[in-house]
Amino acid sequence: SVPVILDCDPGHDDVFALWLAAGHPAIDLLAVTTVGGNVPIEHTSRNARVALSVAGVVGVPVAAGAAGPLVRELQTAEWIHGENGLGGPELPDPDRPDPVTGRTPVPLDPRRATDLMADTLVAASASVAIVATGPLTNVALLLRERPDLVPRIREVVWMGGSTDRGNATPYAEFNALVDPEALDAVLGSGIRFTMVGLNVTHRALVTPAVRARLAALGTRTAAFGDELLEFFCRTNDEVFGMPDGPLHDPVAVAVLADPGALEVVRTRLDVELAGTETVGATSVDLDGMLSREPNAFVAVGLDVDRFWAGVAEAIERLA
Ligand code: BDR
Ligand code: CA
Repeated sequence: SVPVILDCDPGHDDVFALWLAAGHPAIDLLAVTTVGGNVPIEHTSRNARVALSVAGVVGVPVAAGAAGPLVRELQTAEWIHGENGLGGPELPDPDRPDPVTGRTPVPLDPRRATDLMADTLVAASASVAIVATGPLTNVALLLRERPDLVPRIREVVWMGGSTDRGNATPYAEFNALVDPEALDAVLGSGIRFTMVGLNVTHRALVTPAVRARLAALGTRTAAFGDELLEFFCRTNDEVFGMPDGPLHDPVAVAVLADPGALEVVRTRLDVELAGTETVGATSVDLDGMLSREPNAFVAVGLDVDRFWAGVAEAIERLA
C-alpha cells in the first residue's frame, strides 16, 4: 500500500478524502495535517479529528499548520461548508471520550504541521506521497523549511485548479485562488505533481443514487456522512445550482487508492499570480501551444462508478 500524508481543510468533501485514505486497503495513512482554507485553522483542525474519531480511526496523528496563505489574506467558504466547516451533523466534542466507542479521539499533535510531515518523512521506510485537498500552503512551507526531504516525497497529488473554468471566480478554483503562490512553489520544486481539478471532480456528483448507496452501508460513519452530504448538496444547490454536489477531495485520494479509475496526461501546468481578474487560474497546456517542458500530470477522466465503489468500500471498512 502507498504511504500517505493527507493535508486538508475539512470541509465536507475533505472528510470523505480522510475516510477514503483511512479505509482503503491500498493506502497507509501515516499522518494528517490541517490548513486554513474552507474555514479558519481552529475549525479545520477540530474537524479533521472529529472525522477520524467518528470513523473509529485513532492511531493517526493530526497536526495544525498554516492559518493562512503564504502572502495573501485567507479567503474562506462558509457558504458551502457552514460556519464551523462541517454544517449538518451535530459534532461530537473531540476532547471527550467518544459517546459510542468510549475511546478518546486522537489529541491535536503539539507539533506544527510541517514538523509532523518532516518527522513522518524521516521515519518512513519508503518515500511518502502527500495528498493535499486544500490550499497548498503547508506543502510549500515544508519545501521551504526542509528542502533536504524532497527525495523522500514520492509525489504530491492535489485537488485544485481546473482545465477549464473556476468555482471561486470565473477562472479560479477555490484551493488555487486561496494560495496561488504556494501552488507555484510546489510546481517549481520538481516533485512529481498531479492536479485533480474541477474538470474531473465535477463528475463525482453526489446523486440521490450515490447517497442511497452510501447510506445503505448502515454504519455510524455512513450515517454521519449522509448528514454531511445532505447539507453539502443543499449549499451546492443554493450557490451553484448543483443539487448533486461535486465531492471534489476524495477524487485526489483515488489517484493513489485506485489509479485505474482516473485518466491523467502529462502536460504543462502554470498558475496565474498577477492577473487582475484571473489570479489563481490554472493554465493547462493540453494542446501543447506553449512549447514549454511538461511539469505535471493533470487528471482528465474519471471512471465514476469505480470511484464511488472505492469510496463505499473504504467507508464500509470504518466504524
Ligand atoms: C475545493 O474547495 C473546497 O471548498 C473543497 O473542500 C475542495 O477542496 C473545491 O474547489
Ligand atoms: Ca478541501
